[in-house]
Amino acid sequence: MDLSAKPTIAVLGATGQQGSAVVNALLDSQRFAVRALSRNVKSSAANALASRGVEVVQADVYNAGDLERAFAGADGVFFTTLFELAPRLLKNELVQGRNVADAAKRAGVKHVIFSTLPSIREISDGKYIHATQFDEKAEVAEYIRSLDLPTTFFVYGYFMTNVTRDPNVYRVVGPDAYELIATVPVHTKVPVTDATGDAGRAVVKAFLNPTDTIGREYLLSSEYKTIAQLAAEVGRHTGKKIRAVQLTPEETSRHVFLRLRPSQDMFNSIHEFGYAPHLTLEPTVQAFGKQGSFADFLAREKKVAFPE
Ligand SMILES: NC(=O)c1ccc[n+]([C@@H]2O[C@H](COP(=O)([O-])OP(=O)(O)OC[C@H]3O[C@@H](n4cnc5c(N)ncnc54)[C@H](OP(=O)(O)O)[C@@H]3O)[C@@H](O)[C@H]2O)c1
Repeated sequence: MDLSAKPTIAVLGATGQQGSAVVNALLDSQRFAVRALSRNVKSSAANALASRGVEVVQADVYNAGDLERAFAGADGVFFTTLFELAPRLLKNELVQGRNVADAAKRAGVKHVIFSTLPSIREISDGKYIHATQFDEKAEVAEYIRSLDLPTTFFVYGYFMTNVTRDPNVYRVVGPDAYELIATVPVHTKVPVTDATGDAGRAVVKAFLNPTDTIGREYLLSSEYKTIAQLAAEVGRHTGKKIRAVQLTPEETSRHVFLRLRPSQDMFNSIHEFGYAPHLTLEPTVQAFGKQGSFADFLAREKKVAFPE
């Protein structure tokens, strides 16, 4: 097939978890030319993409001119906004989202896919107002809708990689024994998402079926798991002794990120009101097929990063 005839998809965050899965699935499909946006086109991750036939272009999401250049001639855009613990700007995710949406609109992009999250402020009816990583993504979605930009919205669940790549979610309690730590009761349920694998394949299916998906919002997850179930499955997979525990408020106040208001409000709201109470998994299965389970993900993931 003539390469120039393929529609071009621009992927923000292409060297990160979500974006790399989208790039992999786009390349596997052989139906698209892939343009990766990166702040540093000379990084080893950017070079690795280029060696696989991906066009890598320099772009910072805070720079409107970069985005305009990067989206020129693109048919589709995949992006999420990035939560920063120490944001440089007030409502930084809203700034990022507006930049992307405005640039996509100006470039005449035919299909945008936005990895979003629901508003915890709304879900909790104003009880939890510090989960900006959710609320600002919801504001971006609202802004996109106000522009009439043709967009499919995917609400990603709790990343499966959170419990395999971040040692801070565990604490050591003995030789080969760990606790998966939480600030909420361990029977709290989260929808889990294979952000580095299957999620990318669902995004590509949406790019292939724009008329069925544009304007709709899907919960991109395979299943709900309690924190206790996640711990038990990681234990079975690794052969280590792992159980889930709820931290005391005092222990929470010393944890690197669980002590922060965005984490606290997010988990409290999920525990009390659910992750995305307005969405179910059935439409996702119907449109994209069943997503791979947490067990499938663990079978693929080479190792689990436990603390020393
Ligand atoms: N963890 C979860 O359970 C979960 C669940 C749902 C949603 N989320 C959301 O997922 C988001 C993070 O996504 P991720 O894990 O896929 O990201 P990630 O792996 O941390 O990667 C971030 C990517 O963004 C790029 N990037 C960073 N700053 C940039 C900038 N200023 N301009 C342009 N590109 C920039 C980086 O590329 P370069 O370095 O190459 O520029 C990198 O590819 C967060 O907003 C979080 O709220 C997380």
